[in-house]
Amino acid sequence: MTRTRCDRTPAWGALCRHAEGGAHAFDARAALADDPGRFAAFSQQAPRVFADLSKNRIDAATEVLLLQLARECGVEQHRDAMFAGTHINSTEDRAVMHWLLRAPADAPVPAALAPALAEVHATLAAMLAYAEAVRADAAITDVVNIGIGGSDLGPQMATLALDEFAVPGKRMHFVSNVDGHELAAVLRRVQPHGTLFLIASKTFTTAETMANASSARDWFMQQGGTDVARHFAALTTNVHAARAFGISTTFGFWDWVGGRYSLWSAIGLPIAIAIGAPAFGELLAGAHAMDEHFRSAPLAANLPVRLGLLDVWYRDFLGFTSRCVAPYHHGLRRLPAYLQQLEMESNGKRVDLAGQRLPFATSPVVWGEPGTNGQHAFFQMLHQGTDVVPVEFIAARHAAHGLPGHQPKLLANALAQAQALLQGRADAGGHRDFPGNRPSTFLLLERLDPASLGALVALYEHRVFVSGAVWGINSFDQWGVELGKVLAQDIEPRLATGDVTGLDASTASLLLRLC
Ligand code: F6P
Repeated sequence: MTRTRCDRTPAWGALCRHAEGGAHAFDARAALADDPGRFAAFSQQAPRVFADLSKNRIDAATEVLLLQLARECGVEQHRDAMFAGTHINSTEDRAVMHWLLRAPADAPVPAALAPALAEVHATLAAMLAYAEAVRADAAITDVVNIGIGGSDLGPQMATLALDEFAVPGKRMHFVSNVDGHELAAVLRRVQPHGTLFLIASKTFTTAETMANASSARDWFMQQGGTDVARHFAALTTNVHAARAFGISTTFGFWDWVGGRYSLWSAIGLPIAIAIGAPAFGELLAGAHAMDEHFRSAPLAANLPVRLGLLDVWYRDFLGFTSRCVAPYHHGLRRLPAYLQQLEMESNGKRVDLAGQRLPFATSPVVWGEPGTNGQHAFFQMLHQGTDVVPVEFIAARHAAHGLPGHQPKLLANALAQAQALLQGRADAGGHRDFPGNRPSTFLLLERLDPASLGALVALYEHRVFVSGAVWGINSFDQWGVELGKVLAQDIEPRLATGDVTGLDASTASLLLRLC
């Protein structure tokens, strides 16, 4: 199907007029005060996640136009194409099927996808059996995941988030950076006979991961380690390269899983080791419930759709350039970093599917830190700065710890910050004035557990899909990371020789100072 470019649809024009005709100045404070039905209209329960959008600069008319935009841009057809296994990652000629990784074995998938689903479950069973064996192996005290990008951020974020569910007696480490300080610090704390290294790389060619994997293997041998098969496993689509590296224990996945969408695959092995097979199953089930919601809920009651459209509204019609993610849960402290890759690597694109330059803005900058810490750092700017930055609060109703008093304090702060951003304060004058009407969304979980984390992450995946589908970009490639990789290969030998031939004056001068 040919999709109309979003800025050429009638809805886009109507949204432009709507923004100029007053929606720019929409005051969510007044709307909440005047309309007793606003909270109900702009909140909803999706699987495991309750969302309040009512403090945002959006009204019913805006949402109707945004939904019309989604229809005119073919968002539903694009979503259905993803769930049908169509090669919607057109620049790499690949299907996009991370959702299949969390489909139950008997899920009704198109006949052509049945073999893939069977393979998913065979691999999952092998990986979970291995995870259980590692959990039962008291001699393994440390698991070191070596990977970067999607082969690090997802498993690390989820392992931290689900720490409460983790098996005692195993320390989980994550090494991503080619900066040797990171690996060296971990190697100082582990013993070869008690360590399992997981080499996580979709391609098994990523320079940082290969450097860290080689150094870990050298260290293992130098320390007297012999049994590589027991102490190293590879998580990769490139099983052949892993074997050539000398790793015989391998868990595969497929080219239709994007790196930043891969925590549900073999890349999730560290999560499975930490929380065990049943809990990993709950993580998948939570995500699957969100997949079904995204696939089947009407657009107007489809949370990923509503959030993705809100993102488009803010970016293209109100001109907001960033979004702050503030998880009010210590377990979610790596969620902002994870979301940075998910959203900015997916939607940080400036050309359409045909490679034509787009005249409108795409991915916002996504950033953030956990609350309440952020309140004592950058929230000043959110409340009184010159830019309007929509904030996303994420909280869990119940805490896992039993420390008295902390949870009400934490939740009170989350509610108060959202309230302060909305209400502002005009009565104090000058430096003490808060403009208010600063938008925020509140995502609420009952508790942070495998199922709710799975649902939350899948919600974000689909939300990014929706804004990318409206913009008509390929959310599933990442050509923008290539150039720097190539240039680094050129520069590295020059650091040894001091050869600056052909380099710009700045790079040349810096290189000479470094070699
Ligand atoms: O830097 C880009 C990227 O390809 C990411 O998309 C990916 O998650 C990361 O590198 C790691 O890639 P791999 O898993 O192949 O090592």
